[in-house]
Amino acid sequence: MQLQIDKNRVASSFSKAAATYDGSSLLQRDVGEELLRIVSDQNTNNARGSVVDLGCGTGFFTAKLEAELKPKQLIGLDIAQGMLEYAKSLKAPHYQWLCADAEALPLAQNSVDLLYSSLAIQWCETPKALFYEIERVLTAGGLAFLSTLGPESLFELRGSWSLVDQQVHVNRFIGLDDLIKHLPSNLELVVTKQQKREIEYDKLNELTSDLKNIGAHNMNAGESKGLTGRLKVKQFKANYEQYRKSNGKLPATYEVYYLALKKL
Ligand SMILES: C[S@@+](CC[C@H](N)C(=O)[O-])C[C@H]1O[C@@H](n2cnc3c(N)ncnc32)[C@H](O)[C@@H]1O
Repeated sequence: MQLQIDKNRVASSFSKAAATYDGSSLLQRDVGEELLRIVSDQNTNNARGSVVDLGCGTGFFTAKLEAELKPKQLIGLDIAQGMLEYAKSLKAPHYQWLCADAEALPLAQNSVDLLYSSLAIQWCETPKALFYEIERVLTAGGLAFLSTLGPESLFELRGSWSLVDQQVHVNRFIGLDDLIKHLPSNLELVVTKQQKREIEYDKLNELTSDLKNIGAHNMNAGESKGLTGRLKVKQFKANYEQYRKSNGKLPATYEVYYLALKKL
């Protein structure tokens, strides 16, 4: 499966969101922490030479990787220059920051001992190109830890819009089988974990603001180009009410995948 993603838009949207990202990234914090627990469960003592945080965003987990692994070299890499500028201004200056695409890494082959990437690879177009690059840059025995979103994510948002029109309003995400079938033979899958996470909101505009504040607008081809009419938005909001829970909250569900890969 291949997603059509406008990467210039991904870069510009995340760049613009750099200053608001940390305040609206509750899900991203939880998922990144869970991925860090998987890193420490894998006893990565021998993987502390060169560490890359792929899709590092504001650098929150880059700093955590530094604290936990104390690597000789730490690179925060992101496609959004604005995110890197923000990360650079706050985080330790001795990290290296690289503006690059995960599907075309400007890193030498066999140069990375541990790659960590939380909630970034869902913006890649082809898992094949991504895994090729991860395999290429990892050292033999090197590990990659990835978290990403599955197709059930934001089903309430997608379902509410689908009753209004046929435009693509919500990002599409690849299923686990579709993702891992592209693994090259020498990247062994050592951990797979799936989780449903639900964030609750009082009002729908809190959810849409969160998505805007973290820069995660819809970036798949096929989205609506014109201004979405007020009537459509009204219908969408009314449709979302069907998901309101007995505690009065509106849920936003995320299907989260965690993978650990080892280069043989
Ligand atoms: C939801 S944020 C996650 C940031 C950080 N990992 C965290 O957990 O807080 C996704 C990040 O991935 C970056 N990104 C998206 N597509 C990318 C690509 N093809 N290559 C590198 N970074 C990418 C975005 O710019 C953004 O900073």
